[in-house]
Amino acid sequence: MNLILKNARIIDPGRNIDTIGDIGVENAVITDPGKVTNAREIDLTGKVVTPGFIDVHVHLRQPGNTTAETIASGTAAAAAGGFTSVVAMPNTSPAADTAGAIEYLRQTAARTGVVRVLPCGCMTKNFAGQEMAGIGSLKSAGVVALSDDGKCIQDHSLMRHVVEYAKSFELPILDHCEDNYLAAGGVMNEGKWSVLLGMNGMTGAAEELMIARNIILARQFQWPIHMQHVSVKESVELIRKARAEGIPVTGEATPHHLSLTDDCIKTYDTNYKMNPPLRSEEDRQALLRAVADGTITAIATDHAPHTVTAKLVEFDHAPFGIIGLETALSVTYTELVASGMMALPEFVKRLTTGPADILRMKDYDLAEGKAADITVFDPEAEYVVDPSTFKSKSRNTPFGGRRVRCRNIMTIVGGNVVYEYGK
Ligand code: DOR
Ligand code: ZN
Repeated sequence: MNLILKNARIIDPGRNIDTIGDIGVENAVITDPGKVTNAREIDLTGKVVTPGFIDVHVHLRQPGNTTAETIASGTAAAAAGGFTSVVAMPNTSPAADTAGAIEYLRQTAARTGVVRVLPCGCMTKNFAGQEMAGIGSLKSAGVVALSDDGKCIQDHSLMRHVVEYAKSFELPILDHCEDNYLAAGGVMNEGKWSVLLGMNGMTGAAEELMIARNIILARQFQWPIHMQHVSVKESVELIRKARAEGIPVTGEATPHHLSLTDDCIKTYDTNYKMNPPLRSEEDRQALLRAVADGTITAIATDHAPHTVTAKLVEFDHAPFGIIGLETALSVTYTELVASGMMALPEFVKRLTTGPADILRMKDYDLAEGKAADITVFDPEAEYVVDPSTFKSKSRNTPFGGRRVRCRNIMTIVGGNVVYEYGK
């Protein structure tokens, strides 16, 4: 069905547009609203229309752990959260380290997915950090990026060769930055709270060290390396300095690292356990500033579903990870925009053009003729997060019961309304 979105505040960062107006959608593409025929007209006074949000860091768990999530449920959660494209992390079982695995993902996404699933391939076989994956055949199979997320290649020489291959196949690298020796055995941030609670800590230096390694390789080979889930202030400083020097590195921050700190773990609730762990208030403030000033160019969820049973164990034994697709917009809007830290158009960049640039997608905007991937949200909404309404199959969120601002109300992918609040 064709659409005319009327009277919305259109924020289109790619074209530097922030205006009240109408947008037309006809035959899956953005069209002059004056020329659209047979349209459903939707009055969006007071609402904001933007290019569809892109999440560069999502675990869909299919194949391998479909009790926690499937491509169908994970993409439904993405649609509910306002995301029109998600990059699927390859740490599935089997891992997405071959052309066949990517073909399976593409076919299953085409059959059951609600939003666009952008495949990401492993850098190394079974993301084990030992032997390079077949990067050329992954590229031919259609991956948009490479990542060993969940793990980090420890062998710097191997990583160097991955960077060279990634460059020759023009694939961005998304890296989970963690030195295994420094982080070994940790279940939470190393700091005051790990001491008080008597738990093994992971020092922030484990992340900082690998970010420094990646900056060196990005400079040496002049190829982009994106740092996933940046969590400590020292990492922010390294990225800030590298970017000022023109080294092609980027970073993402997650909603949880922007809103929670390691003191939450005093409840022993395993929904506060993820990797990298929640850090100190100083780290959180540094991350908020970095997102606001553009040192960090993307908000990414690291949506990591785990079943209730998997998480219902002692903190030490619980798996790392929490879901995030359905709370990301509200949690980050509340921390960054409602708090007055950043203006709305700049914030929208971190969910649209920022991630698009990381994926080397050109001209991600709402120009006429473009695919109609559109997000509509209500910045005035205020509500309490209720996980029982989630589309995700998992419930491992620390945000249940939290009062937040801003709500996604409509998600449009290729001209189809794939989510509408209340419908
Ligand atoms: O908390 C996390 N969960 N961090 C990761 O790096 C991996 C992810 C997962 O796959 O569960
Ligand atoms: Zn990770």
